[in-house]
Amino acid sequence: MIDRMSLSVTNLLSIKDLTNDDINLVLDTAKYFEEISKRAIKKVPTLRGKTIVNLFLEPSTRTRISFELAAKRLSADVVNISSDSSAIKKGESLKDTAKTLTAMGIDIIVMRHSFAGSSELLAKWTDARIINAGDGAHEHPTQALLDLYTVREKLKKIENLHIGIVGDVAHSRVARSNIFAFKKMGAKISVIAPPTLVPPEFESLGVNIRYNFDEVIPEIDVIYLLRLQLERQTESFFPSIGEYARLFCLNKERLKMAKENVVIMHPGPINRDIEISGDITEMPESIITQQVASGIAVRMAVLYLLAGGGLVSGAVD
Ligand code: NCD
Repeated sequence: MIDRMSLSVTNLLSIKDLTNDDINLVLDTAKYFEEISKRAIKKVPTLRGKTIVNLFLEPSTRTRISFELAAKRLSADVVNISSDSSAIKKGESLKDTAKTLTAMGIDIIVMRHSFAGSSELLAKWTDARIINAGDGAHEHPTQALLDLYTVREKLKKIENLHIGIVGDVAHSRVARSNIFAFKKMGAKISVIAPPTLVPPEFESLGVNIRYNFDEVIPEIDVIYLLRLQLERQTESFFPSIGEYARLFCLNKERLKMAKENVVIMHPGPINRDIEISGDITEMPESIITQQVASGIAVRMAVLYLLAGGGLVSGAVD
């Protein structure tokens, strides 16, 4: 049962800012909202009269659609802005965009931007609540929250699980947010990658660094595969994609070495047969589609809690 109705933060910029109570509140609230997406009429009036802007200045499919559906299912008015269609293309600064949106009385801005720290800056320039939907290689807090939710639903706990985050850790905001989130909730984390894709500094985040996937795979409860962020890699980090796949792609052979109850996750978009072989995504161990579904409920919870909260039981009727 939920006994606290508001978050300790006014913006969702980083998992680091959240307390364990905040995280549990989001997950418990999401549980209420999950049911709405299963109804024939997937809409409740909870955020009627609130205006939400999705300011996506970097490509995105699932995160943008997920936020849009979350807002629409709560009856908020939603405006989508992309870099192609906005004055940002004409050279308008983020600060001026923020002032313009503030003057229009926007309640929440959900922003994706290629610069680390951009959502924190935006929060300084507007009274609207800010949700960081991915800022450069820095953080992607709602992805981590939906991943926690998906694991908790599937395995009924997070504490003491061993999470193996595999792949391009160096360039991944998802890895960073998930490390903070799963550690806060008591999980043990190994990051598994070639040395060029996991800087030794990651050890200071309290994770084990492992370079040999085959060696660690039998110990892991959750295999979390990351996309190779080829667009962020400015130099060559391994001899070839084929070489990476040979050592780190999760294929059927490798899966045989895993625990019987292992679960497989990936934030998407997937590079098939590089991080994961196509056939594995369809296997019962894969909870990748559950991640996508949970994303809507978790984002509904975050929008709702940042917009002012209230009694959830009344809000979903
Ligand atoms: C991630 C992102 O954009 O940070 N995807 C997502 O939000 N679903 C991961 C990625 O692009 O690799």
